[in-house]
Amino acid sequence: MYFDAEPKRDIRDFFDMEEPLRNFESALNKGKLVVVSGLRRYGKTSLILTALNKMNVQYLFLDARLLSAVTMISINDFLGVLEDALNRVSWSKTVLKSVEGVEVGGFGVRFRNRSRETLLHTLHALSGKVIVIDEAQLLRRSSVRFDQLLAYIYDHVDAKVVVSGSQVGLLYRFLRVGDPDAPLFGRPYIEIRLGRLPPEKSRQFLLEGFSQERIHVDDALIDKAVSLFDGVIGWLTYFGFTHSRSKEQPEDVFRKASQLAAKEASSILNTYGIAKRRYVEVLRTIASSDQARWSEIKRGVEARLGRIPNNTLANILRNLVDSGLIERHQAGYAIPDPALKNGVLHHFSGL
Ligand SMILES: Nc1ncnc2c1ncn2[C@@H]1O[C@H](COP(=O)(O)OP(=O)(O)OP(=O)(O)O)[C@@H](O)[C@H]1O
Ligand SMILES: [Mg+2]
Repeated sequence: MYFDAEPKRDIRDFFDMEEPLRNFESALNKGKLVVVSGLRRYGKTSLILTALNKMNVQYLFLDARLLSAVTMISINDFLGVLEDALNRVSWSKTVLKSVEGVEVGGFGVRFRNRSRETLLHTLHALSGKVIVIDEAQLLRRSSVRFDQLLAYIYDHVDAKVVVSGSQVGLLYRFLRVGDPDAPLFGRPYIEIRLGRLPPEKSRQFLLEGFSQERIHVDDALIDKAVSLFDGVIGWLTYFGFTHSRSKEQPEDVFRKASQLAAKEASSILNTYGIAKRRYVEVLRTIASSDQARWSEIKRGVEARLGRIPNNTLANILRNLVDSGLIERHQAGYAIPDPALKNGVLHHFSGL
């Protein structure tokens, strides 16, 4: 069913996206490293899981979001996530049976000592598998050089790696594939970049989804939802799910989505400590126009918070772009997620 809230895993629940699916499959067949990028709720995790299940390959899914509360990720934290992922697949016990530092038994798989050596031994045992690291940019906050580890896997382990992230700029700041001084430099990779559904596809998604739910909806309701949620498949799913159960109108669901998006953005901005105020004001100024030019943003922020040096503003804008909260266009900056834009305007107070 299209409106199930979890990331999709089964091709029968997966709407269209034929092209990214085909591209992903061929990227994985051809290369060692695949990067799946796209803003929040564009369907990255669903694409990866559905494609890997369809291809019938053995994969390990590591969700770096499980570490989002950890300030400095240690090898111990990462091995915790790895252990968890290994215990969710049926083949891990066989593969890790005689690996040093790993215990296998009725309880599942356990790392006896959570050290770098155990990690390397385990990675070598994953030869022939696919290792997925979702929201990989979160691994930047670590004393462990995960970029080095990825380069190590690339060069010495016969496994394929898929990395994905919704904060695309931060993901590339982490991978540094274009930086000659970085461990991953020069390693070929293929990027699959997800975008939004065009209006016709959004309409089709909603119509087919409601028909699966056996719920009759009129054209006006679909039109409204298509225009409010602007092709973000995660929001369309959220709308379909909510309306199917509670009959809430698109505007009401959109308000809830906006509150949720504002809350998520606010927690992303918490990493900036006392500078958060400035980030919030920058976002507010951008949200209040279609495309905000530099001078407009500067004026808007200074009107509320006093003078802001140009390099500080430049830095804030760069961080916001890299976090996927804003985009830079020819005519200026904009908030691409319609729900976030509305959330910043109406639900961002009291931070
Ligand atoms: N092709 C698809 N067909 C049906 N539903 C989908 C599809 N892609 C995504 N969804 C739904 O949209 C929502 C968001 O999908 P998913 O979690 O895969 O996106 P994401 O890009 O990984 O999001 P996030 O950035 O929040 O991790 C989920 O409810 C999922 O079920
Ligand atoms: Mg995801």
